[in-house]
Amino acid sequence: MPITVTGDVAHLATEHSSYVIELAGSVRLLHWDDAVADDDLAMLSAHPPRPTGLASASLAPSGHTEIVGYGGLDLRSPSFAAEFADGTRSVDLAVAGHRVSGDELIVELTDRVYPLSVQLHYRVRADCDVIERWLVARNTGETDDISLRSCLSADVALPEAGTRVSYLHGAWGGETRLDAVPLPSGRFELDGRGGYTSHRARPWFALDDGHATETAGAVWSASLAWTGSWRLAVERGGDGALHAGIGMHDLDFDYRLSPGESLQTPRVALLYSAAGFGDSSRRWHDYARRHLLRKLPPRPVLYNSWEATAFDVSLDGQTELARRAARIGVELFVVDDGWFVGRTSDHAGLGDWRPDQQKLPGGLDPLISRVRELGMSFGLWVEPEMVNADSELYREHPDWVYHFPTRPRSERRHQLVLNLARDDVADFVYSTLDGLLRAHDISFIKWDFNRPIADAGWPDEPHGNPQRLWVGHVENLYSILERLRAAYPDVLIEACAGGGGRIDLGMIGRTDQVWISDNTDPYDRVELQYGYSQAYPPETMVSWVTDEVSHINGRSSSLEYRFHVSMAGVLGIGADLTGWTEQDFTTAAGLVAQYKDWREIIQHGRQYRIGTVPATDGVRAVQYVADDGARSIIFLYAHGRSFGENSVRVMPAGLDPDRSYRCNGGCFSGRLLAAHGIDLPVRGDTASTAVTLD
Ligand code: GLA
Repeated sequence: MPITVTGDVAHLATEHSSYVIELAGSVRLLHWDDAVADDDLAMLSAHPPRPTGLASASLAPSGHTEIVGYGGLDLRSPSFAAEFADGTRSVDLAVAGHRVSGDELIVELTDRVYPLSVQLHYRVRADCDVIERWLVARNTGETDDISLRSCLSADVALPEAGTRVSYLHGAWGGETRLDAVPLPSGRFELDGRGGYTSHRARPWFALDDGHATETAGAVWSASLAWTGSWRLAVERGGDGALHAGIGMHDLDFDYRLSPGESLQTPRVALLYSAAGFGDSSRRWHDYARRHLLRKLPPRPVLYNSWEATAFDVSLDGQTELARRAARIGVELFVVDDGWFVGRTSDHAGLGDWRPDQQKLPGGLDPLISRVRELGMSFGLWVEPEMVNADSELYREHPDWVYHFPTRPRSERRHQLVLNLARDDVADFVYSTLDGLLRAHDISFIKWDFNRPIADAGWPDEPHGNPQRLWVGHVENLYSILERLRAAYPDVLIEACAGGGGRIDLGMIGRTDQVWISDNTDPYDRVELQYGYSQAYPPETMVSWVTDEVSHINGRSSSLEYRFHVSMAGVLGIGADLTGWTEQDFTTAAGLVAQYKDWREIIQHGRQYRIGTVPATDGVRAVQYVADDGARSIIFLYAHGRSFGENSVRVMPAGLDPDRSYRCNGGCFSGRLLAAHGIDLPVRGDTASTAVTLD
C-alpha cells in the first residue's frame, strides 16, 4: 500500500521517497525526502522539523503546514484566502477527518465557524516518485456565498537547506531557457498572467542545496498542470523556514461559491529525487508517460508549411510542397495559418473556419486527396479561441469576446479573445472542430493561441461573478480537448501558443505534442530543448528543420546540424522545399530514414544530458538509451570550435556495464565506455555529430 496512516501520521510512500504528514489540528509536513520505514514515523512526529533560525514574529509556531490560510498570526504568503458574507476575511481551518482510497488520501478540513470545507487531496504516483496534490473547497452552507480570493493547489514546506532554485524562463522566441539562482531571503516568485501559461515562465521549479549536479544530489521539484494564469512563490521566513505555494494566480481572483458549490484546483505534482537533475528529469518524463500522455506509437515526421508560405496558401503551392516533402519521407503534411476565408494576413478571418475557395478551389478535400495520394496524412492549423474584429463571427457576436463595455477592446496581432468560459462560445468552438474533423480526412490539428486575455470583463456572467472566467476558460478548453480526443482518438493534437506559450502539464496531458518556440534557429533551439528536457519528455517536443538562414538571428547552419537538432525530439520540417537542391533532398531523405530507425529510442527511451571530459564550453550532448539498454544514440552539438579543436570526448550514461556496444569502429563494454568516454569528431561554428551505440 502506498499510503499508511498510523495514529495521526500519514505515510505516502513512493518507490524511492516518503512524504509524511501529521493530521493533528492542522496538516503539517514532517518529511519529504528519502524513503523512511514505518517504524520511524513515531520519531518523526515526536521531533517535527523546526526552523533553525531566529524565532520570527511573522511565523506562527505551526510552520510546515500544507495549506497556509489567510488570517490569524500566520503572516506567510497565504495559499488560501476567503471572505464570508458578514465581511469576515480570515479562515480558521481544522482537520475534521481523513480517508484513504487506493492511492489517494483525502484530508478534510473545516472552518471553525463558517460553512467552508477544504479537502486536501494527495495521490501517490509511486512508480515515478511523484505526489500529486490539489484541493477542493466547498461551501457547505445553505444561504450565503463564500468568496474565494486565493485558492492555490498546494503549499509545501521545503528543506531549509534549499538555497538554489532552477526554473525555465523566457519570452517569445526563447521560451524554455534554464536558469538557476540563489534563493533570496524573502520571496522568489514566478507567474504567468493573461489566462495562459505564458512565454515568460513555465509552472515548474527545482530546489537544491546549491551543490546538486546532473548526476548527484537531492532535488525537490514541482510542476503545475494548469494552462491559465498561475503563480508560484518560494518564500523564506526570517527564521529560515522555506515553503512554496503553487497554483492558479490570485491576481484578479474572486471565485464566489454559492451554497453547495465547490471549486477544484488544478493538480500540482511534487517530485523528489536523491540523484541529481538528470534523474529528476527522467522521473518527470516517466510521470508524463505513465500518467498523463496517451500510449501512442512514435509520432510521425511532419512537414509544416508556415515558414515556407505564411498566409500565401494555394492548392498548387501546397501540393508542390507536399510532393517535395513526400520525397524525403515525411509522413504528415500540415497546412498552417492562411487556409480559411478572409485570411490573407493576420488582420482578418479568425473565427470564420471555412476554407477560402479562391485559395483552395473545392475546399480542403482536393488538397487532402493529393496529400493522401502522396502517402502522407493531413493536418490543419486552427486558433479556435480567437477572433479578428474583421470577421463574420465578430460582426455576428461582438459580445462573445472578453471586454469591459466602457473600455476599448485591446487587440494584439489584430485579434481578440473569445470568452470560452461562456457555454455558447464553448459549444461553437467544439462544433467548429467537430465539423472540420467529421467532414474531412484530418489526422492532426495544431491548436494555437496567439495572445493573452486582457480586458477581462464578462458583462452578463450568470452568477454576477465575471472573475470566474480565469477558471472557466481553461476548464472549457480542457473539456473540449477531452471531448475531441474521445470522439477522434486517431487525431493527434499539437499545442501551440505563439510558439511555446502553453507548455505545462495540463496541456501536455490533453494534447500529444507541443510547439515549443517560433525560434527555429537550431543554435538557439539546442538551449531551448535543453531547458525543455528538464521537466517535459522528448516525445512531446516538436522541432522543425527550417531554412539555412535563421529568420530570427540571421545565422546560417548546415542541413545536417539543423536535422541533428530537430531529431532530438519529434522531427518536423518547416523549410521552403522549393529552394532545395538535389543534394539537399538526398541528405534530408537519409537523415529522415535514420530518424525513423532511431525514433522509438528518442521518443520512448531514457534521456540523459551528458557531459564531456574535460568540461567544454559551447558543447551540449544529449543521449537516449533504449529501455532494455541494448541501443543508444548520442547527439553532440559543438559551437565555436577554434585552435584546431576537432573532437570532443563525451561521457555516455545509462549503458548496461556488462553489454558490448559497437561504436567508433570498435566494440566496447558499457563499463569501459562510461569510464573512458567516446571521442567524437566535431569542428566548426555550429557543428554536430550523431552516433549510435549498438
Ligand atoms: C503562431 C505559431 C506559428 C504559426 C503562426 C500562424 O505564431 O507559433 O507556428 O502557426 O502562429 O499565424
